[in-house]
Amino acid sequence: MFPLKITKDDNQRLMAALCENMLIVSMLLSVFFNPDVFAEYCHDIQPALFITAPKEIEALSGSCLEIPCSFKTTDQFDDGINIIGVWMKNNLAFSSDSNVVIFKSSRSVNKYPLNITGNLREKNCTTLFTDLNTSYTDKYFFRIENGPFRATACADPLQINVKDSPWSPSINVPSDLKEHQSVTVTCSAFTPCPHSPPELTWNLQQDSLRQTEKNTDGTFTTKIQENITLSDTHDGYNISCSARYPVTDKSDIAETEVTLSVSYAPRNTSASISPSGLVSAGSRVELSCSSRAKPPPRFIWFSISKDGATNVSVEQVYRFNGTQRGKFYCVATNHLGNQTSSFILVNIISEKRAEKTEEELYYGELNFLPASYFLPASSASHQDGEQQETLYAEVKVSADGLEGLYAEVNNKRR
Ligand SMILES: *[C@@H]1O[C@H](CO)[C@@H](O)[C@H](O)[C@H]1NC(C)=O
Ligand SMILES: *[C@@H]1O[C@H](CO)[C@@H](O)[C@H](O)[C@H]1NC(C)=O
Ligand SMILES: *[C@@H]1O[C@H](CO)[C@@H](O)[C@H](O)[C@H]1NC(C)=O
Ligand SMILES: *[C@@H]1O[C@H](CO)[C@@H](O)[C@H](O)[C@H]1NC(C)=O
Ligand SMILES: *[C@@H]1O[C@H](CO)[C@@H](O)[C@H](O)[C@H]1NC(C)=O
Ligand SMILES: *[C@@H]1O[C@H](CO)[C@@H](O)[C@H](O)[C@H]1NC(C)=O
Ligand SMILES: *[C@@H]1O[C@H](CO)[C@@H](O)[C@H](O)[C@H]1NC(C)=O
Ligand SMILES: *[C@@H]1O[C@H](CO)[C@@H](O)[C@H](O)[C@H]1NC(C)=O
Ligand SMILES: *[C@@H]1O[C@H](CO)[C@@H](O)[C@H](O)[C@H]1NC(C)=O
Repeated sequence: MFPLKITKDDNQRLMAALCENMLIVSMLLSVFFNPDVFAEYCHDIQPALFITAPKEIEALSGSCLEIPCSFKTTDQFDDGINIIGVWMKNNLAFSSDSNVVIFKSSRSVNKYPLNITGNLREKNCTTLFTDLNTSYTDKYFFRIENGPFRATACADPLQINVKDSPWSPSINVPSDLKEHQSVTVTCSAFTPCPHSPPELTWNLQQDSLRQTEKNTDGTFTTKIQENITLSDTHDGYNISCSARYPVTDKSDIAETEVTLSVSYAPRNTSASISPSGLVSAGSRVELSCSSRAKPPPRFIWFSISKDGATNVSVEQVYRFNGTQRGKFYCVATNHLGNQTSSFILVNIISEKRAEKTEEELYYGELNFLPASYFLPASSASHQDGEQQETLYAEVKVSADGLEGLYAEVNNKRR
């Protein structure tokens, strides 16, 4: 059929040409005749048989390999007569020479542990290698013998690469994760042989269902999946997944890890004041805002007066010299939201009064409790100056009662 005699030199030349054309060949794997591509490869003989199969396929030593394969013929093909599928090993002499033939579905040749499991009548040449080792790494060609029709798919070489170590699984998480989002996390592993798929385990739910699925190119992927609803606690969480491939003698394990990056709105926003104790009048006051957020938040400080809240600073730390009392709060903001701190009270007694009574400035932080807390405090304030100071330290007041408390204390002092 292919009356070729290929010399060693020819062979080298052809191999070089093959490498150059590999990319093109792969793109045109199932495309019909293109003289530029297989002129040298098929040695100027127009191929009459084409297969659709991966051009290059990886396998694991000690495991099996299923090669998805279908074929087409240009000449007439008679499915009423005996069809013999043949696999040949790397050799550009496309003859039925017994030196290159490794398998015939008629079983007249069965040198390699493989079997054509596809139905050749249905043009299905799917082939199963039952046990591979690295010495099987090679280029293979498929051939059909159907009565007078005998053809080799010389344009469609199949490169099998047998590896000693397994493939790391891949963990798939959507990008741009945000809190409250429900996402599907998948760990998937290449599965050269669906008859013995890898076992997948991860540090998410242990009973995740394992599924082996067929890819569009006929190869297989094994995966486990879990839906998770994200929260800020998932940020920085490491998901690790391992794939254990069953191979003869031992088991090959490969692991993959990914770290989740989850955006979330500001949390634990709080305002603090420094110095926190008693300080002398006119000195520097620092209000500091802290918050947990991803991405990091912007800060705004507000001062509350009778006319409402006014922004006074967009720094995390607001520094000023204390000259008058005030009530402040900060807001931490990122693109997912904002959060307001509790109020900070800066109470400053006028310098005039400070001189007269030798009172010192007092800055305090107040938490807000129900209004009823204010009432006993109010009546308790009808005491002398010393006790008024104590009042600030001990009594918790409501937000509404706060201005009243100022007024009360101030009146008393005047
Ligand atoms: C080869 O595959 C065919 C089709 O699946 C099956 O009937 C046959 O028993 C297999 N032969 C061997 C030797 O495994
Ligand atoms: C080809 O045969 C294989 C093995 O029997 C089978 O799994 C596959 O579904 C068949 N492909 C088509 C396209 O029928
Ligand atoms: C691969 O397997 C064949 C038999 O299937 C054996 O003859 C050969 O020595 C093995 N090669 C290696 C590298 O294990
Ligand atoms: C995950 O959610 C998708 C829909 O978003 C659903 O189709 C799938 O069944 C869910 N998977 C699991 C394991 O709950
Ligand atoms: C996640 O993995 C990284 C790198 O492996 C490590 O630095 C980090 O501490 C891990 N995080 C957690 C929460 O374990
Ligand atoms: C931060 O806020 C959360 C509620 O959003 C709370 O459960 C947690 O205790 C706070 N952490 C600190 C350190 O205050
Ligand atoms: C603020 O107070 C500090 C002393 O604490 C002083 O050095 C500084 O000059 C004051 N600034 C203004 C603008 O009054
Ligand atoms: C702060 O207030 C000014 C007006 O006083 C306004 O123009 C500005 O947009 C405000 N900035 C923020 C961040 O709210
Ligand atoms: C905080 O978010 C609310 C809407 O959720 C918005 O109305 C408000 O203006 C925001 N505040 C600041 C200071 O960004």
